[in-house]
Amino acid sequence: MHSLIVALGRVDFGYTWPWTWGHLVPAALFAAAAVLAWRLRARRTAAVLALGVIWALAALLVVHDGLRFNAPVELPTAQFLPQGAGRVLDMGSGSGRATVGVLLERPRARVVALDNWSADYIVGNSPRLLLANAAAAGGADRVEAVTGDMRSLPFEDESFEGIVSTYAIDHLSPDGITKALAEAHRVLKPEGTFLLMVINRDRWLDFVYGPLAAMHGFHDVRQAWTGRLARAGFEPVEAGRLPGTAWFLVRKPAPRPAG
Ligand SMILES: C[S@@+](CC[C@H](N)C(=O)[O-])C[C@H]1O[C@@H](n2cnc3c(N)ncnc32)[C@H](O)[C@@H]1O
Repeated sequence: MHSLIVALGRVDFGYTWPWTWGHLVPAALFAAAAVLAWRLRARRTAAVLALGVIWALAALLVVHDGLRFNAPVELPTAQFLPQGAGRVLDMGSGSGRATVGVLLERPRARVVALDNWSADYIVGNSPRLLLANAAAAGGADRVEAVTGDMRSLPFEDESFEGIVSTYAIDHLSPDGITKALAEAHRVLKPEGTFLLMVINRDRWLDFVYGPLAAMHGFHDVRQAWTGRLARAGFEPVEAGRLPGTAWFLVRKPAPRPAG
């Protein structure tokens, strides 16, 4: 379903070309160098450079099929919003990858998409782009775009049945992360579920970005986020990995009966 919507070109999440097609640059450079080496009769060098072309094209495949920058987020667990209906907050929604994922997979849910629209690597990052993507996915009447800061949410306490946040809270400073998780806890109803997805260094990221993955500071973040979520007051439900991603499903505990 998600792939069909993407294939039909109905959604565009605006990720800039270095993220989506950037590997064509090393592919072209390796190919040109391989041809030159072949012409100079440096056959072994040409063969090594040809391997570089194969790597760049394989990495491009992983970018599109594994990391999926320009596709709706597929919810990794049925336990997120298990009742299927309710008000869901998308924290740091950007152009709506997770919003559209929720609209498609939870057809009885409504989504409030919050962002400060600050990311310059998403072309046209704005409520307009988000709403256009939601409409393309058939969810125009179940979505609302709100401008705000994840660290200080403009919502009442306990006003959402579910929260989703993909690759957004991990862009904040350590202090910002603590504030955003505390805000998520505040606005979630007791027994509500929170699905958090963050960038995680794994063999896929290493394959696609090579030494750049380490230079960028990516590392295996699963333990750190498990601790942060617990300190914010959430109880763990489920966790897992997708290419380049760690995900956590947590719940806000029900209040303890008095006495
Ligand atoms: C990497 S993008 C992820 C967007 C979207 N969730 C996705 O998966 O494609 C991070 C988003 O967080 C937003 N953002 C960054 N800091 C924010 C803040 N303090 N409050 C609200 N949104 C913020 C950016 O504008 C951007 O849209």
